[in-house]
Amino acid sequence: MANDSNKFQAIISHCKEYGFIFPSSEIYDGLSAVYDYGQYGSELKKNIREDWWKWMTQLHDNIVGIDAAIFMHPTTWKASGHVDNFSDPMIDNKDSKKRYRVDHLIEAHAETLPREEADALLARMDQLLAAEDFGGLKQLIEDNKMKCSVSGTCNWTEVRQFNLMFATEFGAVSGEADDNMVYLRPETAQGIFVNFLNVQKTGRMKIPFGIAQVGKAFRNEIVARQFIFRMREFEQMEMQFFVRPGTQKEWYEFWKEERMKWHLGLGIPQERYRFHDHVKLAHYADAACDIEYDFPIGFKEVEGIHSRTDFDLRNHQEYSKKKMQYFDSEINQNYIPYVIETSIGLDRTVMMVLSEAYEEQDLSTPEKKDSRVVLKFPPKLAPIKLAILPLVKKDGLPEIARELMDQCRRSFRCFYEEKDTIGKRYRRMDAIGTPFCVTIDHQTKEDGTVTIRYRDTMVQERIAMEQVKQLVENSLA
Ligand code: GAP
Repeated sequence: MANDSNKFQAIISHCKEYGFIFPSSEIYDGLSAVYDYGQYGSELKKNIREDWWKWMTQLHDNIVGIDAAIFMHPTTWKASGHVDNFSDPMIDNKDSKKRYRVDHLIEAHAETLPREEADALLARMDQLLAAEDFGGLKQLIEDNKMKCSVSGTCNWTEVRQFNLMFATEFGAVSGEADDNMVYLRPETAQGIFVNFLNVQKTGRMKIPFGIAQVGKAFRNEIVARQFIFRMREFEQMEMQFFVRPGTQKEWYEFWKEERMKWHLGLGIPQERYRFHDHVKLAHYADAACDIEYDFPIGFKEVEGIHSRTDFDLRNHQEYSKKKMQYFDSEINQNYIPYVIETSIGLDRTVMMVLSEAYEEQDLSTPEKKDSRVVLKFPPKLAPIKLAILPLVKKDGLPEIARELMDQCRRSFRCFYEEKDTIGKRYRRMDAIGTPFCVTIDHQTKEDGTVTIRYRDTMVQERIAMEQVKQLVENSLA
């Protein structure tokens, strides 16, 4: 049985074994911090994405969705501040060539020290980081004889800023001028900002209103060894809510509460979440907090809620020379709206849902050792909703099972299987989180009833086959 400290590893192995998540291009030994979603992982991810999209757009009158391109004009990233500010101080070990984020190197060293020494070291690091004193940071690393975990030496380069954006060249000619350089977007938000007026005008949107988007983002993360928690290619679900200046505080509080409602709607109890207010604010924010979830690796950020002021629209106005203003007919004024952003990582949410659902159960009796791994997904997120299992491969049972498949498959994802004992088939369905299994047996031929087996309780009961579809649909509402 996995305890808390190795539950994380157990989930990673389970994801691979059962077709949820694979290391990218694994046959070539993988690519660091890049992952592929398999047959069940992609369904789970799609269900979370759709749930978020529906909740944000369909259930809020004043929010619409867009789908902007990953490539954007390079000036976008000048205006957003990412070219100048989206970087971390790094240091390289000259012998191993391994690169470290300076704060992570120092924090890892602090973990080896007694409490008081560690606190003093971290306080000094915070001072130097705040002052952007890179010489001082290098000195601190050397004075404390911090070693590279690969080479074991203290042979360090200077500390340098390292931008986290991936750059590539655009068009047919490579290696010519800087004008060809484009970035893979490090957040989806800017696609919303640059389309603010397009959407506002064509949708005749009135403030307050929101624009939502789901899409890939890319960051050249240096410390990237936490499975899908920190990836170099990942997916974000973001919403920018445009408000009248001066009202941002109340909308910030509104969206904190509103987003928490969505999280609780995933069936995850309140005590597994907490808010974490930011002390050090990002370059664009006047208030910010994270929604953290209690992962097997501790409480960590899943979603950020940021009051971004008019920073982005104002800068886009300045760089593009295009007005980013809204005419508010209620107060007869033109202004650049303020923005509350909700930004959640889809992959991190997948990891949260997996962590919450994963359970190893000992089912041993005095007579027999037994256990199972079950993923207790809420039915609306489960990759497969219903497994249809003929007891044997003959006597007309597969035909009846196929009939039930035909009745249900247009409404939700079903799975048909006739191999192995029923017990083994149930265990496989538990392992991928299928909430309902239905067995077709000889009695079905006589009275039209089937055995339905519930994943979480393992209770089995007989119901009329014609009730199955409705029962599953009710669980998805
Ligand atoms: N537009 C604001 C923004 O991008 P962020 O706090 O940097 O804010 C928002 O990112 C969310 O995106 C995070 O809460 C996290 O869920 C997700 N995220 C950020 N970096 C990630 C990474 N490298 N891998 C996976 N998810 C990431």
